[in-house]
Amino acid sequence: MDTPEMTTPIPMPRIGDPAPAFKAVTTQGPINFPEDYKGSWVILFSHPADFTPVCTSEFMTFATLEDKFAQANCKLVGLSVDGLYSHIAWLRTIKEKIEYKGMKDVEVKFPLVEDITMEVARKYGMIQPGESSTKAVRAVFFIDPKGIIRAIIYYPLSLGRNFDELYRALIAMQTADAFGVATPADWQPGDDVIVPPAGSCGVAKDRMEGKEKDVTCHDWFFCTKPISKETVLKTVLKK
Ligand code: BEZ
Repeated sequence: MDTPEMTTPIPMPRIGDPAPAFKAVTTQGPINFPEDYKGSWVILFSHPADFTPVCTSEFMTFATLEDKFAQANCKLVGLSVDGLYSHIAWLRTIKEKIEYKGMKDVEVKFPLVEDITMEVARKYGMIQPGESSTKAVRAVFFIDPKGIIRAIIYYPLSLGRNFDELYRALIAMQTADAFGVATPADWQPGDDVIVPPAGSCGVAKDRMEGKEKDVTCHDWFFCTKPISKETVLKTVLKK
């Protein structure tokens, strides 16, 4: 029988909300989320099921990139509605048996949350019954060092994520925070960034007349300036 917790809709977390708190058992021991991650960025991501091919390709890829994310002060936490022993057996299989796209002997060192009750998955809007009511969709929550949700991406069960894009999004948000700018379509470190709209007529005029240092205006509402790749990476990556 369905309990009220299973049927009462829980509001989906939104960008700008504090990350919903939970305590859970993981493959790396218990965690208190997001409290244990204050001071770091953290990507909380869900996958539909252990021992499935798309998820395996994703875990191998993310585990291979873990150090790169760590350099950008970002930790990783996985979650599915499988139990701990399934998680442990699956990660062991990945390490001992799977070779894929040049990756082998891949050890998943980041925690994988067991969520057999679906409590966490429901809190985070990862159960989307139109896609599956028994599995989490592929959700990605970017949570900043203060525990605030900064970006959310959802993919369906059949679509493996692009981890280069997750890294790009992380660095872009860190760059926006550090320099008070926005990042345009397809931005990569080293590309021009977007400067905020001029607050006063004088600044707007200076900008349009090209008097503001390094700023190029494509129109009054769309101005860019360069920030070198070295400057971005020096600012966002750990020494
Ligand atoms: C997969 O990871 O391969 C997968 C998982 C659930 C449904 C479809 C595909």
